[in-house]
Amino acid sequence: MSQRFQAVKGTRDLLPPETSVWSGVEEVARRVFETYGYREIRTPILEDTELFVRSVGESTDIVGKEMYTFQDRKGRSLTLRPENTASVVRAFIQQGLQREPLPAKLFYIGPQFRYERPQKGRYRQFHQIGAELIGDPGPYSDAELILMLVRFLGELGFRDLVVQLNTVGDEDSRAAYRTRLREFLEPHRDRLTADSQRRLETNPLRILDTKDAGEKSLLAGAPQLVDCLTEDSRQHFATVQTILERHRLPFRVEPRLVRGLDYYTRTVFEIVSEGLGAQDAIVGGGRYDGLVEELGGQPQPAIGFAIGEDRLLEVLPEETSVRLSPVAPIAVVTAGNVPTEEALAVAESLRRQGLSVAAELSRRSVKAALKRAHRSGCRWVILIGDDEMAGGTVTVRDLETASQSQVTRDALVEHLGESE
Ligand code: HAM
Repeated sequence: MSQRFQAVKGTRDLLPPETSVWSGVEEVARRVFETYGYREIRTPILEDTELFVRSVGESTDIVGKEMYTFQDRKGRSLTLRPENTASVVRAFIQQGLQREPLPAKLFYIGPQFRYERPQKGRYRQFHQIGAELIGDPGPYSDAELILMLVRFLGELGFRDLVVQLNTVGDEDSRAAYRTRLREFLEPHRDRLTADSQRRLETNPLRILDTKDAGEKSLLAGAPQLVDCLTEDSRQHFATVQTILERHRLPFRVEPRLVRGLDYYTRTVFEIVSEGLGAQDAIVGGGRYDGLVEELGGQPQPAIGFAIGEDRLLEVLPEETSVRLSPVAPIAVVTAGNVPTEEALAVAESLRRQGLSVAAELSRRSVKAALKRAHRSGCRWVILIGDDEMAGGTVTVRDLETASQSQVTRDALVEHLGESE
């Protein structure tokens, strides 16, 4: 017996007709983002490991536990990208995009890789649709980016989504907060997990993402970042809120929202969907004003978001405009002594006129061909038997109304258009 292979754990095959929904969603993203002046960027799936360590942060779960890291044949440490922001910033610096008019507005659509425990809405290869705006300090850019995100989701049919909004302040705000949080947690060190004890030294903010119930209840009494904000950070956040209110965008301030990546500064946000259970975040994003400089570029403020496309599709509303599309609505079938070549010729001439057509080329019985057309969701079957061949006509059978009519070949396209 030969070995039967399976897709790697946590990865999936996306099959038709679902793939038509994936590309439909991506088309809407392209259209909406382009109306805001964003253009597509495609970066490599492989990057130097150090890029993610420096940007996402050494003490994060992503870098600490979830990266697909390996050595190539020359012993270089490479990583399958766990997210796309670091790569976009790397490309921005490497390709000299700061010399172009700023801000750079870039969007991407593609797979990302994280070694997480697979479950509903959580995969090891998943897909993100994201956007990054580099070179403007905001707060109007913050608001505009969030408006774009919500417009995109609105076009897909999402209605009652609420943006959860917070600020993690600038570097000074966070330094003050780190000290306060350490002072608060230090006396309870023995109630912390080993991970969190380590993070108490390296990066106490990361303790706030804990999933541990004991730590969560301890943190309920912890000081909040909002109490450590500098005046500048407070003002920035207030302005973002004012602009969003002016545009009637529904949001809720979540003082405990800190996000799981280290590069964030000031505005952060998430959108969650109740339909998803534990893995409920469909979008995460925020400002990352220090990252371009951290990765070796001239300092540039920036902000962005990424939507989890897999999760988005799992909760796509019923009333969405993006639909499953059948393979081809028309099938061409020959019968009697008519050569198969005729099915191909008719199909080709219809395709030249922009119609989607499947030609039956495998000499099945007419009955089997009709059954197949029915099962693959065809609307019309064009039958060419000996009589039709002799008379220069075809028989058009409408599978939806179960009616059929004889049509001359010249009138075929018009006939299909009329009965639609
Ligand atoms: P993130 O919150 O790590 O942020 O990921 C964004 C979204 O990707 C999540 O809200 C979720 O929908 C989806 N996602 C993450 N992990 C998985 C998984 N294992 N399976 C399925 N979906 C997943 C970022 O990645 C940042 N780069 C976002 C950003 C862009 N911030 C600024 N610019």
